[in-house]
Amino acid sequence: MFARFIISAVAVVLPLAIGTARAEDSKEKAASVKEEDGKHFDAEGNPTFKIENGVVDWYTFNGYRRYHADCHVCHGPDGEGSSYAPALAKTTRNIDYGTFLSIVAEGRKSVVGGKEVVMPAFGENKNVYCYLDDIYIYLRARAVGAAPRGRPPKKADKPEAATAYEASCMGG
Ligand code: HEC
Repeated sequence: MFARFIISAVAVVLPLAIGTARAEDSKEKAASVKEEDGKHFDAEGNPTFKIENGVVDWYTFNGYRRYHADCHVCHGPDGEGSSYAPALAKTTRNIDYGTFLSIVAEGRKSVVGGKEVVMPAFGENKNVYCYLDDIYIYLRARAVGAAPRGRPPKKADKPEAATAYEASCMGG
C-alpha cells in the first residue's frame, strides 16, 4: 500500500518536473498574437517572427544580418553550427528568451573533449546588444522551422520604431 503510494506519487511528480524544465518551442508557441510597430510578440509576450508568403518582418531580416556579422564565425552560417559551437538554429528551441539574453550578455565557458571552448560576453558590444531581440527572433524562426536557410528574399520595411530604438541604443 505504502509502496504503491510512492510509485504513483513519482509517476505524477516526474512528468511535471520534466515539463517545467524547459518546454520546447514550436511554430504554434511562436505564433504572433500581437504586433507593435512592426515587431511581433507571442502569447507569453516574448518577441517572435512573422513570416507570410515568404515576406519576413523587419526584425527577422535584421537578425539574419546581425547574426551573420557577429555570430556565424563560430556558430556557422544560418545557425547550422560548427565543430566549435552549437547549432543555434536547433538549440534555440530549448532556450527561452531570458536565458538567451543572459547567455549572450555574460558569455560562457566549458570544456568539450578536453579542450576549452569560449562563448564571448557581448554585454558591452553595442553592435550585438542593440540588436539582441532581432538575433533572437531570427534564430527562433530558424529553430522552429519557419525560416529556411539563406538570406530572406523579401522583407517588410524598417519600422520607424526600429530606427528610433537603434539611434537611442547606439548613441546612448
Ligand atoms: C568565438 C566564438 C563564438 C562567437 C563569436 C559566438 N559564440 Fe555563442 N557560443 C560559442 C561556444 C563555444 C558556445 C558553447 C559554450 C558552452 O557550451 O559553454 C556558445 C554558446 C552559445 C549559446 C548557448 C547555446 C546552447 O545550445 O546552449 C547561445 C545562445 C549563443 N552562443 C549565442 C551566440 C550569439 C547570439 C552570438 C552572436 C552575437 C554568438 N553566440 C557568438 C562560441 C561563440
